Amino acid sequence: AEIVIVQDKAVAGALVADHIAGLIRSNPETVLGLATGSTPLPVYEALRSRLEGVDLSRVRGFALDEYVGIDPAHPESYRSVITREVVEPLGLNPSLIRTPDGTPEGIEHHGEEYDAAIRDAGGIDLQILGIGTDGHIGFNEPGSSFSSITRVKTLTEQTRRDNARFFDSIDDVPMHCITQGLGTILRARHLVLLAFGEGKAAAVAGAVEGPLSASLPGSAIQLHPHATVVVDEAAASQLT
Ligand code: F6R
Repeated sequence: AEIVIVQDKAVAGALVADHIAGLIRSNPETVLGLATGSTPLPVYEALRSRLEGVDLSRVRGFALDEYVGIDPAHPESYRSVITREVVEPLGLNPSLIRTPDGTPEGIEHHGEEYDAAIRDAGGIDLQILGIGTDGHIGFNEPGSSFSSITRVKTLTEQTRRDNARFFDSIDDVPMHCITQGLGTILRARHLVLLAFGEGKAAAVAGAVEGPLSASLPGSAIQLHPHATVVVDEAAASQLT
């Protein structure tokens, strides 16, 4: 992977947003892979001022993951988060932005349907990724197969603790999620993984320099011919 070490989140956001805006200008049918969580927020923030006057009516987007069994109207469902942080502020066409369907009924089919929808859209041009402290990308927790497709996973205790800040308590964090698989993620044409802060340093080092291992799912990015890792100094601190 290409490693870019930046001064802070704002610089990272500006850098990635410039690239995405250029992509959309040159191809109004760009297909974006959207991450949630805290990490991509500076990108979405920086995109606001960079997309004025750009035709966004045909831009498509696919979120990485969703909680299973959460009410889509819950403010912390990833559907709500993507609507609030990305679709509304940027003025994207909501009917072209999808999140995996976390409704329990028929959930065994939702993953395949999601991957088929990505394929039908022509594949993802640029996939934004964060990384969990346990090394997950999407919600592919340790033990995920590198060829996995979109499917249901159980969140680790660590991830539920990390995400408890978005809920009233850890008990309110759903137990399961539906996530793009590592195989799904690897089919995107360009991966852009961002990470900030000391807490991500070990996961970043494992992903970039560690052995390819299902116990550190982020290491799958080493299999990708076009992966860019944008980190601040703290997140880069365990790279050799
Ligand atoms: C979010 C996602 C996760 C997060 C990761 C880091 O859609 O798939 O992999 O990117 O859990 O979360 P933050 O950015 O909140 O530290």
